[in-house]
Amino acid sequence: MLAPGLARLIDDRPADGVFRVSRTMFDDPAIFDLEMKRIFEGGWVFLGLASQAPEPHDFFTTTVGRVPVLVSRDGDGRLAAFVNSCPHRGAMIAQTMCGNAKLHVCAYHSWSFDSAGRNKGVKWQEAGCYTPAFEGERKDLARLPAFGEHKGFLFGSLVADVPPLADWLGEAAKLLDLVAEQSEDGMELVPGAVIFTFAGNWKLQLENCSDAYHFTSAHPSYIRLLEQRKEKPDPSTIGSVWADDPAWSEAAEGIQGGSYSFPYGHVLNWGRMDVSPALPLYERAEELAERVGIERRAWMFSMRNLTIFPNLQVAENASSQLRVIRPLGPGRTEMRTWCLAPRGESAAARRQRIRQYEDFFNPSGMATPDDTVSYENCQRGFASRVEPWLLGHARGLGASKAGGNALSASIGLAPERSVIGGSQLCDETLFHSYYREWARRMAGALPA
Ligand code: FES
Ligand SMILES: [Fe+2]
Repeated sequence: MLAPGLARLIDDRPADGVFRVSRTMFDDPAIFDLEMKRIFEGGWVFLGLASQAPEPHDFFTTTVGRVPVLVSRDGDGRLAAFVNSCPHRGAMIAQTMCGNAKLHVCAYHSWSFDSAGRNKGVKWQEAGCYTPAFEGERKDLARLPAFGEHKGFLFGSLVADVPPLADWLGEAAKLLDLVAEQSEDGMELVPGAVIFTFAGNWKLQLENCSDAYHFTSAHPSYIRLLEQRKEKPDPSTIGSVWADDPAWSEAAEGIQGGSYSFPYGHVLNWGRMDVSPALPLYERAEELAERVGIERRAWMFSMRNLTIFPNLQVAENASSQLRVIRPLGPGRTEMRTWCLAPRGESAAARRQRIRQYEDFFNPSGMATPDDTVSYENCQRGFASRVEPWLLGHARGLGASKAGGNALSASIGLAPERSVIGGSQLCDETLFHSYYREWARRMAGALPA
C-alpha cells in the first residue's frame, strides 16, 4: 500500500494488471528536490571506476546529487572519496575532471590538503590570532560516510545508514562482473569523456536505456545505414553486430531477448547475439571460454543494457558505453559518457571499438541524438495534466514472472523477476523496478 502522496504518482496494482505513473513525477520541482535528498543524496550512487585514478595521487571529480565529490588515491595507493568542499569557506577544492596532485590547494584562501584529504596548511596560521578551539578543530576534507568498490566500480553515499554495498548490488553484481571480467586486468575508460545535457528529466534516460520498444521507431537512419552496409558490404567499414540470425543455444531457440529485475531498482534488458568477429571482444573469444566458461562468454557477447539505480548505466552492444546520469533540475539532465574497454586490448580491436562507438553513441553518433530529442519531446508533453497517467509501463505485464529462467540459471544469476520472448515483446515491466524503488525511497517524504 503506497503512502497517499505516492499513490497520486504511481498506480501500482499487480492484481488488476495495472501499472501507471503520473506525468507529475517528471516535471515537479518539489518532487525533484525530494529525489535529490532521498535518492541521490540519501543512498548509494556510482562514483566512477578505480581505473580513473590508477596511480598514487591520481584523482577524479564527480557529484553525488548536488554535492561535489573528489575521489583520490593517496600515496600508499588507497582510494577514498571526499566532499569536494573546503572546510574553510566551502569552495570546491579540485576543479578539474581528473588529474594528479600530491597537494590540493584551495583557490580561495590557499588552505591545502594532501591526497588522503588531510589538511596540510592554513595560510598565515601563526599570524591569524586563532583561538585554541580553532587549533583543535578538524580541518581535513570530509570523507563520504560510505564508500565501497566492486571489481573496480566505485560507489559512495552521503549518508552512513545504507545496506552493505554487496547487499545493495545483490545479484546485479554478477552483471557488473560480466563487464569487469572481459579482461583479466579489468576495464578502463577510453580517453575522451563526452558530456552533454538535454532538456528533460533524468528518469527519461533511466527508462530509455531499458527500452527496446523505441529502437526501430526512433533510430530509422541508423537502421537504414545497417541495411545499406549489408547490401553493399564495404571491407573498410565495421560489421553489423545486430545480426538477423544470432546463434542460439538450444535452450534459447526462438528467444530474442528479455529483461531481469533486481531489488533496489537495478535492471537488465538483453538480446542474445553471436560470438562474432563483429565485436571487438572477439580476439579474446578463446581465452574467455577458458577463463569464464562458455555460458558467461555467451552473455558477454550478448547485447546488455544494465542500470544500477539511480545513476549508472552500462550499454553493451556494438561497443560498450559507461553512462553516469546527473540530474540538474526537473527538466534538465547532464550525461557523462565514456567508451568502456578491456585493459590490454589490441590496437586493432580498440580501433574497431572506437569506430563502432562513434557510429552509435555520442551526440554526434546515429542513436544518441534521436533519443535526446525524444526525451525533450516527452518533457514538453509532461506539461499536460488533462490526462496525467502515462501508459508506457504496461508492455510485458502478462509475460513477467517471478524469478529467473534457463538463461539466467546458466550463469547462476537469480533475478527477482524476468521476462523472456521474441524481438517484438519489448518488455516495459522492468521500469516497475525503477518506480517501486523510487517509491520506497520517497515514501513518507511526500505530502498527501
Ligand atoms: S574557502 Fe578554501 S581556503 Fe578559504
Ligand atoms: Fe535509443
